[in-house]
Amino acid sequence: MVLSLNQSETHPSYIALTGFGERLKQATDGRWDIKVYPNETLGAQQEVIQLVSDGAVDMLIASGTQLENLNPEFATLNLPTVFNSIDHQISVLRNPQIVGELFSSLEESKNLTVLGGLTQGDRNLYTAQGPIRTPEDLAGMKIRVQESDIHIAMLNAMGGSATPMSYGEVYTAMQSGVLDGAENNEVSYTTQKHNEVAKYVARTRHLVGLDYMLINSELLEKMNPEDRKILEAEWQKTVDEHVKLWLTDTQGAIDKATASGSKFNDVDDEAFRKALAPVVEGALKGEKAHALYEDIKEAGK
Ligand code: GCU
Repeated sequence: MVLSLNQSETHPSYIALTGFGERLKQATDGRWDIKVYPNETLGAQQEVIQLVSDGAVDMLIASGTQLENLNPEFATLNLPTVFNSIDHQISVLRNPQIVGELFSSLEESKNLTVLGGLTQGDRNLYTAQGPIRTPEDLAGMKIRVQESDIHIAMLNAMGGSATPMSYGEVYTAMQSGVLDGAENNEVSYTTQKHNEVAKYVARTRHLVGLDYMLINSELLEKMNPEDRKILEAEWQKTVDEHVKLWLTDTQGAIDKATASGSKFNDVDDEAFRKALAPVVEGALKGEKAHALYEDIKEAGK
């Protein structure tokens, strides 16, 4: 199977997914395997989602923000402050009572099944000029966000001027001054070399990001039940492997960035939380979204 990824070969997702493919091949006696195409070679996430839906590509890793555009019910999991930690997030992703319906919600309309999720860890803000400590410090700054209404509202509420853009374009846009900064986890910050063009990192930890593993539903149906069980079991191992890699690589990324001259600073947490509260309130539209939010919060207690 062909799997599209927008990360580099040094990113924990590439490493964990390559291992996933190798184990799958072995456990199914070569009936199934996975070839991971990194670095957006097959296209940016929003383009490849269509290709997987059409069956031209088999699988992809896509950020939750992209799924929000296909089914607004995914938006609750993209909210700032919804998850307390990576552990909380993974426990929600592994709870079919909370996410089961959501994960199969794209099968009929888009031919896409969500196999599960991989963490993006804590996302922070980084800028060329800094340090940023309060929402006021962001006034007038153009900050890249993912293509999501919620993230646009989030960044504007945090005091900046949100600029949606696809991942692969961010480095050049920051380098040329079209952007003043972006927000992402430390691993993306260094693997995308954003530390070369934005050296102030403000530890806002405004959200624990979430990537999904999507697979073409028809392809999944074609798998015999035994192979499908193997696929699911190997996927769960991949999630565990990924969390482990994630924690080590995050520290590695911080060390690497610091050595290259990046400055990490704490922020006025209270001021940012206060700014973000209305974004969460405003995004929870309807009973279903509220119920999902409550279930997620309950799982984090
Ligand atoms: C993270 C995430 C990607 C996402 C990217 C982004 O790196 O893992 O799936 O595309 O952030 O900010 O666009």
